[in-house]
Amino acid sequence: MEATSSEYLTIALPKGKLFSLSAELLAKAHLSADNLSEDSRKLVIENERDKVRFIISKTVDVPTYVEYGAADIGIIGKDVLTESGRDVYELLDLGFGKCHLMMAVPSDKRRGRLTDYAHTRVATKFPRIAEQFFARHGMQMEYVKLNGSIELGPIVGLSESIVDIVETGRTLKENNLTEIVSIMDATARLIANRVSFRLKFARIHRLMEDIEEILKKNH
Ligand code: PRP
Repeated sequence: MEATSSEYLTIALPKGKLFSLSAELLAKAHLSADNLSEDSRKLVIENERDKVRFIISKTVDVPTYVEYGAADIGIIGKDVLTESGRDVYELLDLGFGKCHLMMAVPSDKRRGRLTDYAHTRVATKFPRIAEQFFARHGMQMEYVKLNGSIELGPIVGLSESIVDIVETGRTLKENNLTEIVSIMDATARLIANRVSFRLKFARIHRLMEDIEEILKKNH
């Protein structure tokens, strides 16, 4: 497949919140391309001179492109990476995109203990992480997978609670939801395809060193 040709380094970038910070970081590490924008209609953007190619993908698909080698490396949130269960190398914690995954309920429907929510319905984009978390607490739950606007779940009576990402807390507040328990912290990660990491070791390793330098300077 051309995308994994030894000359080029193919990078999967997620649309949305992580896009601009990811593109900025890579540009500082000398990996950029003209017209690299998440709004681009062109989904593959190449820089022939530096032999780098960007794939602009839906966030949840980044680990898939990387696992299958359609992209050599990618940037993705730890939350989405964990939920995906994809077999990739996690190379670096990039520090940005800080958020946490938590369980929340309508503020007027709080119960005493976490286990008091057992056997209720949870709306979430993260059913695997949620199930593992509740199983650790000996709780069986019913999961409703949603793909966005999770906070709607309890408001319209679809579920008793949600398991979702919180960044600033604004969405919870505006929808009268209260956090019950934090499940995991997340930041953006640099990931690599296992074969690409070996075949393009020198280039990927240099990139890791460059990124580590940049992150140090940012502190
Ligand atoms: C995420 C998450 C919350 C919101 C949290 O949604 O699902 O809805 O951000 O951010 P806050 O704490 O800063 O308010 P996103 O914007 O990614 O869209 P989605 O709801 O369509 O998934």
